[in-house]
Amino acid sequence: MSDIHVVILAAGKGTRMKSVRPKVLHNVAGKPMVDHVMAAAQSLAPRTTTVVVGHMKELLKQGLERYPGLSFVIQEPQLGTGHALLQAAPVLERENGVVLLLSGDVPLLKSHTLAALVHKHADSKAAATVLTAMVDQPYGYGRIVRVKGRISRIVEERDASPAQRKIREINSGVYVFSLAPLFDSLRGLAAGNAQGEYYLTDLVSTYRRRRLGVETIVVDDPNEIRGINSRSELAEASRIVRQKKNEELMAAGVTIEDPQTTYVDDDVVVGADTVIHPGVHLEGKTQIGQACEIHAGVRIINSVLADRVTVQNFCVINGSRLASGVTIGPFAHLRPESELRDSVHIGNFVELKKVVLGKGTKAGHHTYLGDAVIGENVNIGAGTITCNYDGVRKHQTTIEDGVFVGSDSHLVAPVTIGKGAYIGSGTTVRENVPAGSLAISAGKQRNIEGWVERKKQDAKK
Ligand code: UD1
Ligand code: CA
Repeated sequence: MSDIHVVILAAGKGTRMKSVRPKVLHNVAGKPMVDHVMAAAQSLAPRTTTVVVGHMKELLKQGLERYPGLSFVIQEPQLGTGHALLQAAPVLERENGVVLLLSGDVPLLKSHTLAALVHKHADSKAAATVLTAMVDQPYGYGRIVRVKGRISRIVEERDASPAQRKIREINSGVYVFSLAPLFDSLRGLAAGNAQGEYYLTDLVSTYRRRRLGVETIVVDDPNEIRGINSRSELAEASRIVRQKKNEELMAAGVTIEDPQTTYVDDDVVVGADTVIHPGVHLEGKTQIGQACEIHAGVRIINSVLADRVTVQNFCVINGSRLASGVTIGPFAHLRPESELRDSVHIGNFVELKKVVLGKGTKAGHHTYLGDAVIGENVNIGAGTITCNYDGVRKHQTTIEDGVFVGSDSHLVAPVTIGKGAYIGSGTTVRENVPAGSLAISAGKQRNIEGWVERKKQDAKK
């Protein structure tokens, strides 16, 4: 198979998005449009990948920094799709093989579709192969005009006759071109059309006239070639991706109570017999084990949950690891680098950050634990706070196995509480507590008898 060179067109204005951000950086189902395109393209192991940029080119380049080895070519001004591809000539003209041309705003393409397109091109020895689709509403797309069954040209909506507008086979804007005749032919394009642009689509009629082979394949699922031009099309694309993800999960044994309101990013993994209630968001690289229960309104980002974890309503879990049998929430906030070992219980209004909680440890109510290593079977009373920040630096709290921290205690870090120690309620722990001891810092209680009655009398005077 000959070398594949991917070119992604992304210089256009994206006017209808009404955004100060480049269109292709807007998220579809949780990740930038162009990332979907890159993922499909990279699966073919292309020899080179070139992005044609123009409008908001600096922002776009920044958005693509994560991809090493990309070439950028600048198209300025933007004189149409044919002119856009021509800008890649300096990068590709001396290469061999084929160009796989993609649009940054067509994010739902599957890699197997692109592979089929490349194979068809190679097998038929064509100079160009066009990916087409049969749709019920072809409005806005270029139409595939066939003569005796063979593609003869592509005509854009604005240049089409009423009869041509009725054609339901449309141009996806995705093609494979053999490099040999490509750039010279692009230089020969004219701009004599309704938009005064150099249309890439005109290569079809040029090639046919010159008796160069042009082939087509029709995509199975027309949703794949949806182009995104507006916020409403963006939402629709996200919906399609999510629906598909939810269907895959359900087929693999996950219960999703209400797929309409369940938002699971593409890379998320969920085990069988897990139940997901309405309004749940599972984002990024999140992995969830088997037989978990995720209640309504939960958001989990880049976190790993083992089996049989229960997350009660309205928790946010970010960058954390929960071992099997953990229960958390409702209303818990797990910030990055929190690790909850087997059977830990976290109750309502608990915030964790960069903390390890050993097996069987419990923090049931209203607590902040940050920068702490906490052992096994520790009981953290309501209202406990690790005072981890002195205004300049963060400090570590260490709580060893079996410690009991009474309610409303403040643990002023750096501090260590030894194995099995007790902290009396309302203690401010400023010094290390040796194993097995009781720490109390509050003074002796004083009762002033009759105080209330005297206060009432004073008020009357
Ligand atoms: C294009 C096709 C049309 C096809 C449709 C599929 C042409 C002339 N028409 O139309 O047949 O049905 O895609 O979605 O090719 N771009 C540049 N520089 C430019 C112009 C565009 O980089 O000067 C980029 C855009 O950023 C976009 C892509 O090319 O990523 C397609 O351009 P767009 O203007 O959206 O073309 P359509 O009118 O949708
Ligand atoms: Ca478009």
